[in-house]
Amino acid sequence: MPETPLIEMRGVSYSYRRGEAAEVAALQDIDLQICPGEFVAVVGANGSGKSTLAKLMNALLLPTEGEVSVSGLSTLQEEYRWDIRRKVGMVFQNPDNQLVSTTVEEEVAFGLENIGIPTDEMRQIVPEMLGDVGMGSHLRDEPHNLSGGQKQRVAIAAVLSMAPDCLVMDEATSMLDPQGRADVLDVTRRLCRERGLAVIWISHFMEEAAEADRIVVLNRGAVAADAAPRHLFAGAVELEDMGLDTPAVTQLAGEMRSRGFSIPAGITETDELVRAICQLYLKT
Ligand SMILES: Nc1ncnc2c1ncn2[C@@H]1O[C@H](COP(=O)(O)OP(=O)(O)OP(=O)(O)O)[C@@H](O)[C@H]1O
Ligand SMILES: [Mg+2]
Repeated sequence: MPETPLIEMRGVSYSYRRGEAAEVAALQDIDLQICPGEFVAVVGANGSGKSTLAKLMNALLLPTEGEVSVSGLSTLQEEYRWDIRRKVGMVFQNPDNQLVSTTVEEEVAFGLENIGIPTDEMRQIVPEMLGDVGMGSHLRDEPHNLSGGQKQRVAIAAVLSMAPDCLVMDEATSMLDPQGRADVLDVTRRLCRERGLAVIWISHFMEEAAEADRIVVLNRGAVAADAAPRHLFAGAVELEDMGLDTPAVTQLAGEMRSRGFSIPAGITETDELVRAICQLYLKT
């Protein structure tokens, strides 16, 4: 039996009102399913509709047409919205805009308080959650003294305190240095693997997207492709026409193929290319 989707979009369109009459069609006729525990990357050029898609997933925006449901609950029904926002947690781009408390532990406790967790239970859960994102030794730190990557990990812990089924990371690494980016991606992947959280990873770093189970490509508000990274990067979809790169290792593999080396299509990881090159030498 097919798995019940965690998030389902059916015929979803969204237009922003601009001024009196003009409307901006940000998304058109999107059909998309996200299953529990999946790690799905969403990529697309600036303005292609990624953030709009993210906000539709947790009822921050409501579709102009069509329907979005989370665990079978439609975002159009007002009585489900609180539940839906708990189930689908969001982390945004700017780490400085998401933390509101004076210490790291308060930041996480705030969410727990909101859902009525008793104080003594909270004392146990808060360090656990911060430990889960590698911030267990920063409980008493002030958020503004942390690095960007540390702030994003605290933001993730705060979202975890709501016991979500899905994390939506909207370009959550784009303002971070390479170390911060790697740390946030590692933590997110681990939460997906160990806690079975579904992850929507919105990013313009193709190297990051290449690590997802599936990549959804948005182009001018429509789904242009929805495939496993190796299929997408094997060359069937013209990513460059949509303002997107392929990972450097995929480009290098393609360059070698075009020069006659027998390298398989759709390589997305450095290790794979290294193995393919070793194979060539073993054959000669
Ligand atoms: N609040 C708004 N009011 C009017 N138009 C908007 C608003 N927010 C987004 N848009 C428009 O909707 C379209 C999709 O925007 P969206 O922010 O979803 O794209 P995006 O893929 O997230 O872009 P970026 O890569 O820049 O974050 C764009 O044409 C954008 O200009
Ligand atoms: Mg955006």
